[in-house]
Amino acid sequence: MNPKFTLNDLRQARLTGRKVPVLTCYDYTMAGFMQRAGVPVLLVGDSAANVILGHDSTIPVSLDFMIEIAGAVRRGAPDALIIADMPFGSYQASTEQGSANVFSMIQRSRCDMVKLEVNESQSDLVRRLADAGVAVMAHVGLRPQSVGLLGGYRFQGRTSEEALEIVALALHMEESGAAALLVEATPPQVAKAILDRTSVPVIGCGAGPACHGHVIVTHDAIGWTAAAPKFVPVLGDLATPMIDALKRYVQQVAGGEYPAEKHAYSMKTQESEKFAEALLTPRVLANDR
Ligand code: KIV
Repeated sequence: MNPKFTLNDLRQARLTGRKVPVLTCYDYTMAGFMQRAGVPVLLVGDSAANVILGHDSTIPVSLDFMIEIAGAVRRGAPDALIIADMPFGSYQASTEQGSANVFSMIQRSRCDMVKLEVNESQSDLVRRLADAGVAVMAHVGLRPQSVGLLGGYRFQGRTSEEALEIVALALHMEESGAAALLVEATPPQVAKAILDRTSVPVIGCGAGPACHGHVIVTHDAIGWTAAAPKFVPVLGDLATPMIDALKRYVQQVAGGEYPAEKHAYSMKTQESEKFAEALLTPRVLANDR
């Protein structure tokens, strides 16, 4: 069994140049597969709102739901570094609200790190959490929880001014105590500028090759979503074999092939005969009238 992957391993990767694969994960069973496949870092993303709950944005997912699934992923992959997303509304109201909810996420799910989609005003919260010993990943670039303000799911850092703002925010987050950064959907030079000016691990999500690790939404890469962003690699088509397996069940039940004799539990012959005889006896069953 692999030893547990920790934040120190992530920091070490930054120094050695080892690239760290990160995948989103939302349940115990898949987490077990991911651990067996050697995925060292799992992100329990609020993309669960889309791919698990079927919402058209990440906004509606609740803190309780995120805590529940982060705990399931923790149990399924005890050796992975588990990063849990704090959902919309769970940390934006105040530093007090945010820190209380983050403590609750950590205590109840046992995740290793929390991810916050940040803006300048969240630096106090990041500082408070870092002072309390919490490993925070600060998410910059495209922040789906701010989709209203950003005007849609467009890549960020399109102009020099916009790119400079993203870099400045990342630097500010490191200064505030963030243990890692996540840069989503920016041109590669934006992530590279962040990497060159910070000393924490930087995970990219459609942010170019320079990042120390890369994360994608697993469902996008295995053919489980209708469409995927352009930066997502095609890892396979797991939808077709799944649908084929489910069709086989439909056919077997409809055709009477399932259940067959081999699927049945058996009663000892003596008991079976006694049972058949008893059924012939009037009023043997309490409510047999
Ligand atoms: O929720 C999520 O899956 C994410 C990744 C896309 C980075 O935040």
